[in-house]
Order: sequence, then structure tokens, then C-alpha cells
Amino acid sequence: MTRDYIPKITDVRELGQVWTPDWVAEAMAAYTMSQGAESLFDPACGNGSLLAAGKRFAARKHTAFLANGMDVDLRVLDGFKRQGLDHSDMNRIRIGDYLADPPDAIYPAIAVNPPYVRHHRIGGVRKRELQSMVMGTMGRRIDARAGLHVYFLIQSLKQLAPNGRLAFIVSSDICEGVFSRQLWDWVLRTYRLDAVLQFSPEASPFPHADTNAILFLIQNSKPRSEFIWARCLKEDPISISEWIESGFEAAYPNLLEVQTRTVSEASATGLSRPPSHHLTSFTLGDVASVMRGIATGANDFFLMTREQASHRNLPSSFLKPCISRVRDLDGDRITEECLDRLERKGRPTLLLNIPPSPFEELPLSVQDWIREGESLGLHNRPLIKTRRPWYRMEQRRNPPLLFAYLGRRDCRFILNEAGVVPLSCLLCVYPKSTSAKDVWQALNRPETIANLASVGKSYGGGAIKVEPRALERLPIPDEIMEGLAVNLPIQEGLFNLATG
Ligand SMILES: C[S@@+](CC[C@H](N)C(=O)[O-])C[C@H]1O[C@@H](n2cnc3c(N)ncnc32)[C@H](O)[C@@H]1O
Repeated sequence: MTRDYIPKITDVRELGQVWTPDWVAEAMAAYTMSQGAESLFDPACGNGSLLAAGKRFAARKHTAFLANGMDVDLRVLDGFKRQGLDHSDMNRIRIGDYLADPPDAIYPAIAVNPPYVRHHRIGGVRKRELQSMVMGTMGRRIDARAGLHVYFLIQSLKQLAPNGRLAFIVSSDICEGVFSRQLWDWVLRTYRLDAVLQFSPEASPFPHADTNAILFLIQNSKPRSEFIWARCLKEDPISISEWIESGFEAAYPNLLEVQTRTVSEASATGLSRPPSHHLTSFTLGDVASVMRGIATGANDFFLMTREQASHRNLPSSFLKPCISRVRDLDGDRITEECLDRLERKGRPTLLLNIPPSPFEELPLSVQDWIREGESLGLHNRPLIKTRRPWYRMEQRRNPPLLFAYLGRRDCRFILNEAGVVPLSCLLCVYPKSTSAKDVWQALNRPETIANLASVGKSYGGGAIKVEPRALERLPIPDEIMEGLAVNLPIQEGLFNLATG
């Protein structure tokens, strides 16, 4: 008996070999074929899960079915039989690179789960070829940090027949990357976006991935000003397919949260993010500035416990209290007692901070420790060797607030009562003029925290990551901002937008 091909971790990374579960494949087939298409094209067909869903759909509707597809890897076709596809379904499957050598045809129905291959795995020559394809299609370049999946979207849209339909499931970073605005401006100006379907963590189609899946349903017809934006709460192939076939009219309140959005609002907010109707333009940047924490380049050397510092005889004026990982913070304040607790657990809480004095003028114990670092070759490490001298740490004022920027449900602002500096796992937040405590309370209000979704990047399991510039764009609701302004010195124009 032959066994199905099972992708190895390298096949997942280099070729994006992750199969679509049947319940999502059914929904994708329902959308693409419900207008009467009797064929389905999958340019990255893998084990055939999408084509098999198309075949089942056609069987239910008693129509003919023709499978069309490509894959770069012959081995994956082993899975066809198990999916219920037979020899006749393989006649139009070609082995080849879809982006380098796409079929010269257009299709009424295309379903794609493209290989999710990040841009740093795409070679320079290939990137240039892909860019020239983009130029020919969109009439402009796209940021080179786009992954392979982005090019699959552009190429598959290009191959849609008039009124043809595309179902495209992909990581939501396609809406959140640096290239996203250029990409979606073009898509939304050129095609009709019918619906976007997101998945709650409980209904994640790829539960082991560290990214969030998002399904786009797009038709090659005149763009409309509105589209359906829905969130799927649990697996239910039948109802989701019925909902799609009903033209998104049927209601399934326990299964789907559905809303109608305007294309203009959603493209400004980001298609993967919930709608944002902020009438004010107040953001965190109005009341604070943000910097990432310190990157040491060698935590084992620069970071230490009090006991290690005393053993090395390092003077306290050469050490700064420090927080080196988010897990060391268990609430929304960091105090001296928290540092003592960490020390009792053996966690380092001190960062070596050597002033810019000449080496000879440093205390002998510090000189010895620097020599120890050199004997370990630290001064030749990539980040460290850019510093002058190599052992002089990046400088940060003690931030009054810290922000834990990568979390599942616990992204929060932390009041820095212990005067620590954080490492780069945290962001430093510096209130501009109002009291740190007031800003801290305003930022930790659930209404403000909820807005993180509108500026952050979403990851698997509901995690979110917010970079410093994005955090400065965090909207602060009007009523919270007004409460804050009581303590703000008059800031020219701050409230003009709200009142005018
Ligand atoms: C995410 S899987 C999807 C497979 C299947 N369509 C599904 O939905 O379960 C992506 C597939 O793309 C294939 N692939 C990777 N690079 C490709 C390329 N340049 N051209 C065509 N197929 C490619 C991989 O071998 C893999 O089978």
C-alpha cells in the first residue's frame, strides 16, 4: 500500500506545503463555483484538497466538473486519490512554477491557498522577475518585502475571466505589511471585493501556524463601495457554504458575526482589522512618544543578577535596574518589590551601563569584565561591533511607562515605579507633558486597548504585535482624551479637530 506524501518542515518553509482543511475548502468551492462554473483552477494544488471540494460541489449540483491545476512539486499529487480525485482529474494538472510559467488562460473559478513563503526566502533574481510581473499587471512596483503569497494573489487575479470568482485564503499579514496599501489600492480599484472572512482562534483553519488566516472572496467585475466582513466562530462547512451560496444573506448568529463595511473605511483601517469609526484623530502620539527597549547583543554578558554583580565587584553606578523579558512582569506596575522577587527567583535585574570614560579611567573590576567579554569575542558580534566602544550600551531615559507589545490577550501598559530600563522585548513610552499615571490609566482603559487591533499586526491564536511607530498611531477615544486634557497644558490645536 502506498502512503500519502507528508511534507517535512523544510517543505513547509520553502514551499508552503500546508493543506486547507475540508470545511474551509468547501466554502471556497461554494463561492467560486456557485455562479455555474463547471471547472476549478488551483495554481498551487498540493494534495488536491480544493479541487476535491470543487468536485464534491459539482456532484451536489449535478453539473460537470473539470479540475485544472499546477504545483511545483510532483510528490504532493500522491494525496489526490485520498481526496477522492481520480486519473481523469489529473489530466489537466501540470507540474511547474506558477509564477515563472503561468498557464496562458483565464478561468471562471479559481481557489488558492498559496505557498506562504516569506520575502527573505525569495532570491534576488526571482524577486526582480516577480517585480516585473507586478509592474506589467499593476503598472507599479510593490515593496520588495512582499512574500510569495502576495505575487500569487496578483497573478491569480490576472487570470480571472470576466465575472470570474477567486477564493484566496492567506495569512492576514497580506493586509498589514509595508506593501499592503499599494496592493489593496490596486485590488479594490480593479475588482469587486464580495467578502472577507476571518476566523476566531477557536475556528482557526491552521491552528499550528503562528499567523492568522483570512479568506478573500473576489469577483472580476466592477468594484462596489461596500462588502461583507465576517468572522467565523466555529467550524461548520455546511452553514458557511449555505451562507455564501445565499449571497451572504442567510443569518447564522452562533456561527458568523457579519457586518457590511465600506471599501473606503476598510482600506484605510486595513482589511484584517475590525472597522474603525474614530471621528477624532487623537492618538497616543499626541500624549507620548515611543521607542523600542535596549538591544544588548549579548544578554549573558551585559545582564546580571545582584549577586553576580557583587561577585564581579562592579560598582552600582555602572549598573541600571532592568527588565529583560515580558514574563518577568506579572501585573501592570513594576516596583522595587517586583525586582526583589525576581532576584529571589534568580532572574537578572541589572544591566551593565558603562559611562563614556576612557578605558584606563574605568575601575579595575570593570576593565576586567570588559576583557572577559573580549576573550569571548563579543566585540566582533554583528550588533555589538557597531558600537564605539563596543561595551557602551544603547542609552534610554528611564521610561515612565512600558508596553508589552507582543501578546495574546495581555497587551498592556506598565507603570514603571522601579525606574527600570527595558530590553527590546518591551517598548518605552514617554508621556509628553501630562502625568505618567494619568496617561497610564487612559491607555489601559479597555476602550483604548481594544484599538490596538487597529494598529497592530495580528498573529495566530489572537496574538498581536505593535511596533513603536504603530503604537504612536493608537487611537484614544474622545471621552478618554477629554479626561486626560484636564491635566494637559494647553496644546495648540489639540481639541480643534474634536470641536471643529
Ligand atoms: C499551501 S499549499 C496548498 C495546497 C492545496 N491547494 C490546499 O489548499 O490544501 C501550497 C502548495 O503550493 C505549492 N507551490 C509552492 N511554490 C509553488 C509555485 N511557485 N508554483 C506552484 N506551486 C507551488 C506547494 O508545493 C504546495 O503544494
